[in-house]
Amino acid sequence: MRVLLYTGKGGVGKTSVSAATAILCAQLGYKTLVMSTDPAHSLADSFALPIRSEPTALTKNLWGLEIDPFREIEENWATVKDYLSTLFSSQGVDNIVAEELSIFPGMDELFSLLKIRQFYERGEYDVVVVDCAPTGATLRLLHFPEMIGWYMRRLFHVERKVVGTIRRFTDEIFSVPLPGEEVYETVERLYKRVGEMKAVLTDPDVTSIRLVLNPEKMVIEETRRAYTYLNLFGFVCDAIIANKVLPEEVTDEYFYEWKISQQKYLEEIEASFGELPIFKVRLYEREVTGIDALSQMAHDIYGNNDPTDRFSDEKPMRIVKRGKDYWLELHLPFVEKSDIQLLRKGDELIVRVGAIKRHVVLPHILAKQEPKGAKLEESILQIRFSPT
Ligand SMILES: Nc1ncnc2c1ncn2[C@@H]1O[C@H](COP(=O)(O)OP(=O)(O)O)[C@@H](O)[C@H]1O
Ligand SMILES: [Mg+2]
Repeated sequence: MRVLLYTGKGGVGKTSVSAATAILCAQLGYKTLVMSTDPAHSLADSFALPIRSEPTALTKNLWGLEIDPFREIEENWATVKDYLSTLFSSQGVDNIVAEELSIFPGMDELFSLLKIRQFYERGEYDVVVVDCAPTGATLRLLHFPEMIGWYMRRLFHVERKVVGTIRRFTDEIFSVPLPGEEVYETVERLYKRVGEMKAVLTDPDVTSIRLVLNPEKMVIEETRRAYTYLNLFGFVCDAIIANKVLPEEVTDEYFYEWKISQQKYLEEIEASFGELPIFKVRLYEREVTGIDALSQMAHDIYGNNDPTDRFSDEKPMRIVKRGKDYWLELHLPFVEKSDIQLLRKGDELIVRVGAIKRHVVLPHILAKQEPKGAKLEESILQIRFSPT
């Protein structure tokens, strides 16, 4: 099974591109499911067809699914939610607020992503296309396995044995209710599932992440940041979809400035995402809705390519620690040994090697360090960072 995930800033065209991709996959004969994990569902609007919270048949080989986050939360988290609500209420938090607090931000999307693992295990589909939430929310989720791990160790696992013995006493002495066995089990089960989900999502043979963007300043900035963190967490991006590009034939004076600025930003996109293929899609005369328009969009994006292909295999970025120093390693194929120029601008690093220019957003751990030198070995540019 292949999992194709589309993410990007709000409004860039994630839902349209996901829907279009799914239609093409189905046309190529793959049994395809398209689902959205963005709580603001719009797949049904995009297809102009009703889509339920169960796989709904759309056309030949194609099913759609809009996940009901509340149902997923009930199924995966109910016991913990009830416990946390009681806990917060016991501390004097208003009931309704307590209930809200017992669901962490991003949890609805996390549970939606857990569904992917379910489909993967059942092997019912050849392709699952996922219309993700905007980059910000998706990135927060990548911390979930670590975060849940933290909860497990601090709050739950370590104290689990102790809790059993002291519960009887503390319930009487303190006003803080302690978690029951079911709460531990729920957290443990979730931890296991999140781990399995991460394994599916970071397996490049299964999952490819595609970043959808528009040739605009803010969009590129957000997407670059997302790209760094996706790489850092071991997810594999294999393509960029540059959507809403003004077509050549637009000669209208009104759009003249727009075209120039888009041209400049398209160059910047090339400098930011290295060797990833960039599929360009024009801004259509009207909104893209319905099977015909989406199908046209898919052909404009992929041409004769099969969307389930892996468009890039490289591991573009890696951070390793050697001694006190951190090394940022960038894969730069086709680069000859020549002068390396590094320029630091806030949390961004601009790297120039010969004719190649790369913009990299530095992750937090490197943002406080200074680049101290660089060397190029076997197409890998290694940049040494150490504290100032
Ligand atoms: N290439 C395009 N040309 C014209 N309209 C587009 C194009 N791509 C997307 N749209 C329209 O832009 C709006 C936002 O697209 P959508 O796919 O919902 O974005 P997202 O899911 O990223 O928020 C929709 O009304 C969609 O029809
Ligand atoms: Mg959307």
